[in-house]
Parts: sequence; C-alpha cells; structure tokens
Amino acid sequence: MRSISAKPGQFCRRSVDLAFGRLSPPASLKRIGELLYEITLEEYHAVAVHPTSFGKDGYLDPKEAYYPRFEPHSGFFHNGKPNDLSVMANNCKDEDYRPDAYRVLNIFPNFLVNHYRVLYTWYVSITQYIPVAFDSTVVRSWYYQVPFQGPKASWFHLLFRRWTDLWLPFFVGIYLRRITNEDHVICEAMQMTAGSMIEEPLLGLEEQRIAWFREAYWDALAQLNGQENSDA
Ligand SMILES: [Fe+2]
Repeated sequence: MRSISAKPGQFCRRSVDLAFGRLSPPASLKRIGELLYEITLEEYHAVAVHPTSFGKDGYLDPKEAYYPRFEPHSGFFHNGKPNDLSVMANNCKDEDYRPDAYRVLNIFPNFLVNHYRVLYTWYVSITQYIPVAFDSTVVRSWYYQVPFQGPKASWFHLLFRRWTDLWLPFFVGIYLRRITNEDHVICEAMQMTAGSMIEEPLLGLEEQRIAWFREAYWDALAQLNGQENSDA
C-alpha cells in the first residue's frame, strides 16, 4: 500500500510514502466537501475534467452504467447488471471475489472505495472526506495492490505481472494524484459560485446518485434533529 499525504495548508506540497502498505496521506483543501464528494457520484464530468484519462473516449454510454443503491449508500458498476451487488457481497463472504470491471462504492456519508485494473493487476483505492469547516475539507486516500486475478491467467501473464508489480505501484500513485488533483482544481473553482446555487439541479441518468446522496443527507439531518429535540 502506498500513501500520498499533506498537512493542512500544504496541499501543494504533498509527499509520497513509497513504503508498501499505505498509499495516500491526508490533504487539507479549502474546498466545500459537498462538491468534492458529489463529483465522485457522477460520470459526466470525466470528459471535461479528465480529458486525457477517464474522459478520453467521450461520454460513457448509459447502457454501460449500472448504479446499485443500498441506502444510504450507492455504487457505480461499469457494465454491471441487477443483482451484481448481491453476487459481489456473497463472493466477498466466500473470499472468492473477482471483479471484471471498474467499480465504485460510495459509503455514506464520506467514504469512497474504487477498484480498477491496471495492466494485469487490480488495485483498490479508499478515500475519506472529512469536513473540518464550511470551506475546508481534509481528504485522505490510500491505494492497495490486491490479489484479484482472472481464473484463467496464463503462466505468461503471471510472469509478466510479477515483473510489472515491481514498478507499477509507483506509476499508479502518480496517475491517481493527477486524477485527484484535476477534481480538486474544478471543485475549488466551483466553490467561488457555490453560494449562488440555490435551486435543486436537474440531474441526468449518470448523476442520479447525487440526488440519492442528498436524500440520505437530509434524512440523516432530520434524524439527528429529531434526536436532539427528544433529548432536550
Ligand atoms: Fe473525477
């Protein structure tokens, strides 16, 4: 695992811990946490914000997007289908989970788990968003190389993987930092006008999870308020 870290106020001076085991360190950002988190809940921004990586092939075909909702949480499974989440949960219980496509799990309220394949190796990234003020959020993320592999991996692929695993994590870290920074720059710019966004947005299919998140958020606040009123 490797880590990328920064202390509050040092976002531009992140350091990389190359020790295996922990992948990314905390970064303190003067940005609205809601914007940072909501950008992880939709796919449309990829074309404009990540034009050389996620968005280089254009907009995602809606037929390739499957969004499981397990309130108050949600996910994005590329080329997923109904029941995939149950299958995944059962496979995890049996310690036999083998992803075959990019997947994201957003665990309410502020936790993000991605898994993705680079060459022949699967990685998992875990990110936590911690609001510390109305205009400041601490972001911590870690990435791990995981032992998922296809059931029919040939000896050549296994050998190739042993070689790439020696240096691949270093480049994955660089790539993740670039992607993360692209999101952060956009959210920072949007923060300037966020106060004027008072109407509920019109959401497309690939951003429906933003509405789900907001619903869960207001439910959680209502429950908290109800609890405080009954305690008073
Ligand atoms: Fe993004």
